[in-house]
Amino acid sequence: MNQKGGVGKTTTTINLGHALALSGKRVTLLDMDAQGQVVTGFGLDNKQAGLDMVLLEDVLIDDVKVTVRDNLDVVSAGPQLADYEHVATGGASRGHKLRLAIENSTLIEQDFILIDCPPSSGLLGINAMFAAGEVLIPVSGDYLSLQGLSRMMQILKSAESMSGHAIKLWLLSTRMNMRRRLTHEVRNRILKYFPGRVFNTVIRENVALAESPSFGKTIFEYRKNSAGAEDYFSLAQDLLRGRTS
Ligand SMILES: Nc1ncnc2c1ncn2[C@@H]1O[C@H](COP(=O)(O)OP(=O)(O)O)[C@@H](O)[C@H]1O
Ligand SMILES: [Mg+2]
Repeated sequence: MNQKGGVGKTTTTINLGHALALSGKRVTLLDMDAQGQVVTGFGLDNKQAGLDMVLLEDVLIDDVKVTVRDNLDVVSAGPQLADYEHVATGGASRGHKLRLAIENSTLIEQDFILIDCPPSSGLLGINAMFAAGEVLIPVSGDYLSLQGLSRMMQILKSAESMSGHAIKLWLLSTRMNMRRRLTHEVRNRILKYFPGRVFNTVIRENVALAESPSFGKTIFEYRKNSAGAEDYFSLAQDLLRGRTS
């Protein structure tokens, strides 16, 4: 999650998800961004029912999930997901719909559930935070990324107190251009503010990561020897071992 767009949330959901699946973990990806770019990244379209019908019509997650690769399932956003942002009925329970839908599904048997979030903290983002035990915040290597972070922390704090459960925090340096001094400054800043919470691996700016979704392929299928594949595989090992800087 990150309210800032373009920081690599969707890229990370797809490629970290596939890296974990390739490492033998059972993984489900949930697309909570109405743009629906998670399924399209696997070469499917977002026209079928997905989380939109789970949230709006109480359809079961197990009835809309799709197996896209070995060990890897995806639940698409679906074409109506944006409508859920405007649901006015249901009171406080509107924020707990996703959590309950997961608890009432076979997803609880998975090793990892990754939720791709929209660049906002509306009802969809709240549902994601109430369902999640951990949140991963991608921070890109530019100065503006730092400005949004304190607001992100406030949102997380209030989600924790409203939901009544602690949310473990992780940060990830994304889209890093290692030749720019600013990139190193931004990383040093987040290492200082979030000691022990920043993943060791740095995701470098890599054109193959930007190209692969248009072929419906993950980085491991599109360019398995690229910097992007190396970085996302390394990130998966960080997550499995809790490796941080
Ligand atoms: N490490 C990277 N190197 C190069 N391009 C990237 C990288 N990460 C993301 N991108 C590209 O940047 C754009 C925004 O990334 P995306 O994952 O969609 O961000 P978000 O989901 O946070 O809006 C996309 O075009 C994506 O392909
Ligand atoms: Mg996205």
